[in-house]
Amino acid sequence: MDKVILVTGASSGIGNETVKLFQTKGWKVAATMRTPEKSEDLSRIVDVECFRLDVTEPDSIRSAIDGALEKFGQIDAIVNNAGYALVGPFEAAASEQIERQFRTNVFGLMNVCREILPYFRERGRGTIVNVASLGGRITFPLYSLYHATKWAVEGFSESLQHELRPFNIKVKIIEPGPIKTDFYERSMDFTSKEGLDAYNDYVGNLIPKYEKAGKNAPDGSLVAEVIYNAVCDGSWKLRYAANSKLVLTLRKILPDAAFGWLIRRAI
Ligand SMILES: NC(=O)c1ccc[n+]([C@@H]2O[C@H](COP(=O)([O-])OP(=O)(O)OC[C@H]3O[C@@H](n4cnc5c(N)ncnc54)[C@H](OP(=O)(O)O)[C@@H]3O)[C@@H](O)[C@H]2O)c1
Repeated sequence: MDKVILVTGASSGIGNETVKLFQTKGWKVAATMRTPEKSEDLSRIVDVECFRLDVTEPDSIRSAIDGALEKFGQIDAIVNNAGYALVGPFEAAASEQIERQFRTNVFGLMNVCREILPYFRERGRGTIVNVASLGGRITFPLYSLYHATKWAVEGFSESLQHELRPFNIKVKIIEPGPIKTDFYERSMDFTSKEGLDAYNDYVGNLIPKYEKAGKNAPDGSLVAEVIYNAVCDGSWKLRYAANSKLVLTLRKILPDAAFGWLIRRAI
């Protein structure tokens, strides 16, 4: 029987690769994004339908879900992938930047969950995949606000898995390490405050290192494979590493002080 998946943030990177992988595996895919007009690559693929969905606009979520149900007749899984990083000294962040970071990465993801849940619950099954991050389990300097959102996604998802289990709804968390996508380029937002120069050297030293890690990383297809496995493995397993296994293992076995020392040395 046909299976249907809805993916947010499908215009580039991990979301885009996820759409393509599921399609090649025989799934029907609702590829959602803020500006579907720009997505010529996906709109030409058979069994892929593009819908406009901005996670910060609940009406657009509702109408994308309705559109996918109308087109494909069902939705079996959703991938909450849309997100970006606000980077730089916390002290330099404007309230609007902080709010937009949470509105997208946390409240946006929650909005999508809230819209799909009545359907999954009434249907008696469904899978929610939340793309968190290695940065939802560990932290690096200058990413404090991004980490705050991804740690929130971790806690939210971990709790949700318990309360949705009686309804046969699975929750999966994907924890990618560095992945070469638009994440480190056009999608990134930076904090800055006029007259605040105290962090300049620190920022100037660290940001190029982060950018280099992104440039040398594997591409989004690696995460798409992990998402595919999470959706299809039939288990109730919650967390899936993607280019992050070694660091997650070290985090598990080392005490806080030792792990903190390791992070400072690594950067
Ligand atoms: N790349 C990494 O190293 C890495 C590591 C760990 C976790 N992640 C997570 O992976 C996810 C995907 O990121 P990526 O690496 O694939 O980066 P990306 O290529 O920049 O993709 C981000 C996607 O999110 C979309 N988006 C942003 N705000 C949105 C909104 N309000 N509504 C709907 N879509 C929105 C973007 O759409 P537009 O085209 O409209 O901007 C884009 O499609 C993110 O949640 C990110 O935090 C990435």
